[in-house]
Amino acid sequence: MGSAFEGRRWLVTAGPTYEPIDPVRFLGNFSSGKMGYAIAEALRDRGAEVVLVSGPTCLPPPRGVAVVHVVTAREMLAACRTHFREADGLVMAAAVADFRPRRRKPHKIKKQPGKAQLALELVENPDIVATLTRRKKPHQYVMGFSLETHRGPAHAIEKMRRKRLDAIVLNHPWREGGIGADDNAVVVFGADGSRRRFSRRPKSELAQALVAWIAEQLSSR
Ligand code: CTP
Repeated sequence: MGSAFEGRRWLVTAGPTYEPIDPVRFLGNFSSGKMGYAIAEALRDRGAEVVLVSGPTCLPPPRGVAVVHVVTAREMLAACRTHFREADGLVMAAAVADFRPRRRKPHKIKKQPGKAQLALELVENPDIVATLTRRKKPHQYVMGFSLETHRGPAHAIEKMRRKRLDAIVLNHPWREGGIGADDNAVVVFGADGSRRRFSRRPKSELAQALVAWIAEQLSSR
């Protein structure tokens, strides 16, 4: 089974992105990066050469994995562009901020006497995985993640098609572990119409099971 990954180059993204508001504040999200790091380790254990593009997390760099640290979505896009070209596969587990403040203020925003409100103008960030799959080569395999609070399967499948992914992992944010937790339960949908449910388990075990599922998908290509 290891042969699907032996000597292959895999790119994995993990963690949140932080979008600066001023020199001391940012917009971010609760992603811990644990799922992406666990997937990078599972691919490494099957013999892949792994590049992990990571947003800010508290996790130690996995042994034997090349880690590229980034902060913002635009930095993540630039790093992914560089490494996707040479990659056989991509697992896009990062929780990319969809919006960023239009301008990073050069100085710390101060409270204004008598003003109890502050408006922040946000602009959309690039969609990293959709940008990459525009230039996807036929042999490259791309898995995305989807976090939904309602109508999960329908939204996940629609996202998989829209972003030209080979598979998408549907996470539920709170019901069964999920964001920030040590364990998670997911459903994976393949572009070939396949569907597999993975019961709640530690993220390290879930990552191994997902990578085994990718190996099955690759062998039936
Ligand atoms: N993604 C990305 N770039 C973004 C936003 C998301 O590459 N700017 C990727 C995520 O890493 C994930 C997939 O797209 O693999 C789906 O992410 P999700 O946040 O669920 O989808 P969005 O496109 O942001 O849709 P929405 O927020 O409307 O649900």
